[in-house]
Amino acid sequence: MIEKILVADDEPLMRNFIAETLKRLGKEVTLACDGNEAIRKLEEESFDLVLSDLKMPGKGGLDVLKAAQTIAPQMLVILATAYGSIETAVEAMKLGAHNFLIKPFSPDALETALQKAEEHSRLLKENSFLREEHALSKCPELVANSAPMKKIVADLAKIAKSQANVFITGESGTGKEVIAAAIHRLSTRTGQPFIKVNCAAIPEALIESEFFGHERGAFTGALARKIGRFELADKGTLLLDEVTEIPLNLQAKLLRAIQEQEFERLGSTRSIKVNARLLATSNRNMLEAIESKVFREDLYYRLNVVPVHLPSLRQRPEDILPLAEHFVRKFCAENHKPIKPFTDRAIQKLLAYHWPGNVRELANIIERTVVLDFHSTIDADHLYLDAPALPTKPIGSLPIGLTLHQLEKRLILETLEAQGQNRTKTASLLDISIRTLRNKLHEYGVGSAEEM
Ligand SMILES: Nc1ncnc2c1ncn2[C@@H]1O[C@H](COP(=O)(O)OP(=O)(O)OP(=O)(O)O)[C@@H](O)[C@H]1O
Ligand SMILES: [Mg+2]
Repeated sequence: MIEKILVADDEPLMRNFIAETLKRLGKEVTLACDGNEAIRKLEEESFDLVLSDLKMPGKGGLDVLKAAQTIAPQMLVILATAYGSIETAVEAMKLGAHNFLIKPFSPDALETALQKAEEHSRLLKENSFLREEHALSKCPELVANSAPMKKIVADLAKIAKSQANVFITGESGTGKEVIAAAIHRLSTRTGQPFIKVNCAAIPEALIESEFFGHERGAFTGALARKIGRFELADKGTLLLDEVTEIPLNLQAKLLRAIQEQEFERLGSTRSIKVNARLLATSNRNMLEAIESKVFREDLYYRLNVVPVHLPSLRQRPEDILPLAEHFVRKFCAENHKPIKPFTDRAIQKLLAYHWPGNVRELANIIERTVVLDFHSTIDADHLYLDAPALPTKPIGSLPIGLTLHQLEKRLILETLEAQGQNRTKTASLLDISIRTLRNKLHEYGVGSAEEM
C-alpha cells in the first residue's frame, strides 16, 4: 500500500494542489519546495512514493530520482513535467522512474497515476517475477537464469528490506559475496557503509582488535587507536565472510556484541553502541560445524535468522552459459578487446564440465581465455579447463599400527601432492578450512604459516 508520499515542486500553487488531492485520497503527504529539500527528506524519512517536478531550481527531478534509487531502491518515483519536456521524462522512465504526469493535470489524472502505482507496488510485493526483475535491474552484475537462482533473486528484495540477519551458505565460489553485496544494495541501508571482514584471512591474534578496535597502548604494538569493523559498519551492513573460521573463544564475544548491540574497544571500558545489520557466509556444512563444536549453536541461530543457500554451479547448468557470456563481456571490456562468441563445441565443453570451483572457476577460465587468445571466436580448445580435481591415485593399503594422527598426516600430505601443492583445492577436497590446513602443515613442518 502507498501511504506516505513526498511531493517536490517549486511552485507553491502546484504543490498545494497536489497535496490537497492526495490528502483527499487519504494519503500522508510531506512537501519539499525544491530538489535539495526533497533529497534531504528522503535521507531523513522513508516514503512509499515520490512525486517530483522535473524542472526545479538547483537539483531537479532526475537528481531526486537518482537519490531515491540509492537511498530507497524499492520506492516508486513519478515525475511531473510540462509538455515541452516529455522527452526528458521518457528518458527518466528508462532510468527507472515509475511514471510521469504532464502538467497541468486534473485531480482525476493524479488519482489514476496513483492507482497504477499502488497496483505496481502490490505486484512488486506479490509477484516474484517482477521482484526478480527489480532486483536484477538494481544489481546488473548479478546473473541468474536457472530456476533456483531466479527464486533466490526474487526473494532478495524481500530479504533485503527486512533488517534480519542473513546467513549465506554454499560451496566455495558459488557467489556468496555477490549475494551479500546485493542484499546491502537492495536494503534501506544502501547509502551507508558496507563493511566486510574476511574471518579466514585475519591472523587469529588480530581478529578481536579487527572486530572491535583498540585504544592506543591496549597491547604491545598498539601504537594508535584503531576503529574496529563493527564500529565502521554503524548504520550500515557488516559482512562476516567465512564466519566459521572465527576461533571459539571469540565467537562468545561476537555473540555478546550482536545480542547487546554494544561492545568495548580493546583497552577501554567504555561501551560503544552500534546498529549494524549482519550478513554471514560459510562454505561449510553448518550442522556438522555445530555438531563437531567448531561453531557455537547460539551464535549460528543469531546470525541465521534468514538462511540463503546457493546451489553449486553443477546443480544449475542453465546458469553456465549466461554466466560465461557475462564474463566474456566483462573481461573483453576490461582488456579493451571486442566481444567474441563461443563456438558450439566450446558451449558443449562448458556444459559438460563439472565446475568444482563453481562460478569463480568459470570467471577465471574465461578471463584466461580472453587475455591469452586472439581468435575471433572462443573455441573448445581455447578453454583451459582444469583436470578433474579428484585424487589421482588411491592412498594405498594401511598398515595396522598406524595411529589416527599419522593417518591424518598421510592423507593430508598425499592429497596435497595429488593437487600439485594447491592448498585451496586440497582444503576443499578434505572438507576442512584453509586455516586448519595451514595449521596442520605448520605442525608437520611443511611450509611456513604465512605461505598462503
Ligand atoms: N550470480 C553471479 N553473477 C555474476 N557473477 C557471479 C555470480 N556468482 C558469482 N559470481 C562471480 O564469481 C566469483 C566468486 O563469487 P564470490 O566471491 O561471491 O563467491 P563465494 O561464494 O564468496 O566464494 P568463496 O566461498 O570461495 O569465498 C566472483 O568473481 C563473482 O563476481
Ligand atoms: Mg567468499
